[in-house]
Amino acid sequence: MTARILVTGRTGQVGTELGRAAWPPGLEPVVVGRETLDLADPEAAARAVRDGGYALVINTAAYTAVDKAEEEEDLATRVNGEGPRALAMACTEAGIPLIQLSTDYVFDGVKAGAYTEDDAVGPLGAYGRSKLAGEVAVRAQCACHVILRTAWVFSAHGKNFVKTMLRLAAEKPELRVVADQHGCPTAAHDIARVVVEIARQVVLEGRRDAWGTYHLVGEGATTWHGFASAIVEDQAARTGKRPPVRPIATTDFPTPARRPANSVLETCRLRDTFGLSPRPWPETLAEVLAELFDESAGAGS
Ligand SMILES: NC(=O)c1ccc[n+]([C@@H]2O[C@H](COP(=O)([O-])OP(=O)(O)OC[C@H]3O[C@@H](n4cnc5c(N)ncnc54)[C@H](OP(=O)(O)O)[C@@H]3O)[C@@H](O)[C@H]2O)c1
Repeated sequence: MTARILVTGRTGQVGTELGRAAWPPGLEPVVVGRETLDLADPEAAARAVRDGGYALVINTAAYTAVDKAEEEEDLATRVNGEGPRALAMACTEAGIPLIQLSTDYVFDGVKAGAYTEDDAVGPLGAYGRSKLAGEVAVRAQCACHVILRTAWVFSAHGKNFVKTMLRLAAEKPELRVVADQHGCPTAAHDIARVVVEIARQVVLEGRRDAWGTYHLVGEGATTWHGFASAIVEDQAARTGKRPPVRPIATTDFPTPARRPANSVLETCRLRDTFGLSPRPWPETLAEVLAELFDESAGAGS
């Protein structure tokens, strides 16, 4: 019998990749958008879980506008805190597990080394607070949960740093990019690969010993400046355009939301528990850029 898996966030980066991922026989993803499951309407979201006959819920949907959340914290908290709480309660009622995506922005960024899952949280902004509220609610309401904190997500679709840098590199004589925030770029298709495997272990192998919080970020740390430089370098090889990428400080690029100076995450627990290692971000970046350039070549032909 095939187990149906409810996946939220159909139009998002991770939701899109989960829809395109190679799922093993026996698992059937049902990827839904806001029109079917609106996290800002927690009761309706819970109903969608209760009525669906699912074996697992994967919640990738979220209010992800980090700066706008500073003005819309109530909405961000409803979508990222109350929505997951309702999903978690509905999962418990249905007797099924919940995989919840979370963020590196739950940390304050003052630690010198990589953050482990047990490090103290201390979000600097409204988005981080709202996602932390979601973590707390999921832990409280659904014992059978896997919380996956990811970071700096990129893909060939949706809005992300890679696409912004490609556009700016095509338009501007030079780029100025923050060089004092450290983190781990993570490809949405690599997140999807890992999530599908966790789903397989939980649903098909019946694993019940792995509930908890895990870090899931691309291997290798860099800065936004380092990330931008890699993007421009790759693009230069294809287009011949190589605008200089100048390092700047966070203070030179003020934003409404404060961001952690260090949000490098340690991923050993994911490897030790599930036998899964995220791939190095430069490799996955090359794949995403190839997809983007193939698409634009296809569009022009
Ligand atoms: N993007 C990052 O850099 C990043 C970093 C760390 C953690 N994360 C976390 O990783 C997960 C996946 O992120 P992503 O990059 O795939 O996000 P994304 O591309 O910004 O997509 C967000 C998704 O959430 C949906 N959504 C927003 N409000 C909703 C609501 N009220 N009800 C139902 N759906 C709603 C959006 O639907 P619409 O198209 O209808 O708006 C969209 O499908 C999220 O939990 C996010 O917090 C992301």
